[in-house]
Amino acid sequence: MALQFSEETEKQFQELVSRYPNTQAALLPALLLAQSEFGWVSVEVMDYLAERLELNPAQVLSTATFYTMFNKQPLGKAHIQVCTTLSCALCGGYEIIEHLEERLGIRLGETTPDGKYTLAEAECLASCGTAPMFQITFSDGEIEYYENLTPDSVDELLDELDKKLEQLPAPAEMH
Ligand code: FES
Repeated sequence: MALQFSEETEKQFQELVSRYPNTQAALLPALLLAQSEFGWVSVEVMDYLAERLELNPAQVLSTATFYTMFNKQPLGKAHIQVCTTLSCALCGGYEIIEHLEERLGIRLGETTPDGKYTLAEAECLASCGTAPMFQITFSDGEIEYYENLTPDSVDELLDELDKKLEQLPAPAEMH
């Protein structure tokens, strides 16, 4: 079935487009809206937006691929975004990434085969005084910060999260 916004999202889309002088200017917020509706920004979603905004599909593709906040693949139930900006980098952010890669058996940008975790790198998440830190976005919409991380505290946290994730819904699937 062809993609279509839900009724509620369609209202938000119409309202959003009316606030901008042209549809090109509305592209970024429209991509965010589409991502929250469909869970990730697939080629199909980009084509849908291009059609809705009367833009060239290449314009939508180049914008969506430029910004790291747009997910170009389905996410796991926990989207871990590790900050590697200065304060976190100096305090061990990259070691936290290496530890996560080893523990989860995936590399940055990948999702575990069981669909539980997606690992990503992020720019400063405004918690520099408690570096190193990461943010996790859960599939139910909850967002949590975890600070002053060490490999040991990451292991403890993942032990707890493994159980919590069993209860969470699967991330939004493509329609
Ligand atoms: S440098 Fe990591 S939160 Fe700011």
